[in-house]
Amino acid sequence: MTDRHPVTVVGLGAMGREIARVLLEAGHPATVWNRTPSRADDLVAEGATRADTVAQAVTSSPLVMVCVLDYAATRELLEPVAAELAGRTVVQLTTGTPRQARELAAWAAECGIDYVDSGMMATPPMIGSETSQFLYSGDEAAFQRYRPALELLGTSRWFGADAGLASLYDLALLSGMYTMFAGFLHGAAMVGTAGVSAAEFAASAGEWLRAMTASLPYAAAFVDSGDYTTDVQSVEFNKAALDVIVQASVDQGVAPDLVAPIQELLARQLAEGHGEESFDRIIESIRSRPA
Ligand SMILES: NC(=O)c1ccc[n+]([C@@H]2O[C@H](COP(=O)([O-])OP(=O)(O)OC[C@H]3O[C@@H](n4cnc5c(N)ncnc54)[C@H](OP(=O)(O)O)[C@@H]3O)[C@@H](O)[C@H]2O)c1
Repeated sequence: MTDRHPVTVVGLGAMGREIARVLLEAGHPATVWNRTPSRADDLVAEGATRADTVAQAVTSSPLVMVCVLDYAATRELLEPVAAELAGRTVVQLTTGTPRQARELAAWAAECGIDYVDSGMMATPPMIGSETSQFLYSGDEAAFQRYRPALELLGTSRWFGADAGLASLYDLALLSGMYTMFAGFLHGAAMVGTAGVSAAEFAASAGEWLRAMTASLPYAAAFVDSGDYTTDVQSVEFNKAALDVIVQASVDQGVAPDLVAPIQELLARQLAEGHGEESFDRIIESIRSRPA
């Protein structure tokens, strides 16, 4: 496999376009296909080859990257061209669940297609920059074969043969991101009742949250050991803190929808007799363990 092998990108939305552009700029002959053909126009002007059909797109390159809305769209596009895809590598960049990734990998295996699933930890402008991370799992030989091209999109992280793992890790990271943003928005709503702008709040919230991430390894140690014995930050202590936050929110006219579930999880741990143990024990109310 030469460094600058042909690549095909199926799906030219905000992400797919940037992916195609980065590969093209690095010198890969790129074939592109999009349901709405006009979205390929600027890439074609920059040197990409437009495929008129999905079949033509997938037979133009040994590496086919798919970046569409969801797995249903992916299947709609790929199933009719299974025979053409046999012997090639599909890298599925579209976001989906681990189950969808495993099911698509099983289908690909039946069809003789090498399958790699991916979670893209990036936004369109981040693609190709050092802040972009792409998570991969599935067929390791295919991943290694095309790794130089994949590294152009962002730092690659490999998670093993289970095609669902990249997606699982991706969605776990996004869960942390969404709850962090939601927490920020709750705080902004609270201080907003006193006329403080979200911009002003963002400055202190950013500083505080960055400092708090330093405690993640300590939380992890409780979770991994299953021993929640602590002298500080107990369930009881934090339940009292959440009671105050919820009450203050209500007093200020802010709906406690975002913080009340944490209060509820702490109440459950307290009721089960774990008041003296660490805050992190709330994970025991939500986790399931591998069989
Ligand atoms: N944007 C982000 O920051 C980001 C970050 C990480 C992951 N992702 C994931 O990356 C994937 C693509 O996101 P995006 O931001 O590029 O989305 P987007 O801008 O909304 O583009 C969606 C793409 O999917 C195509 N599509 C939708 N339904 C289709 C169908 N039934 N058949 C064929 N093509 C179909 C669209 O074609 P048309 O042009 O014809 O509509 C378009 O090319 C999604 O799974 C998203 O969750 C996005």
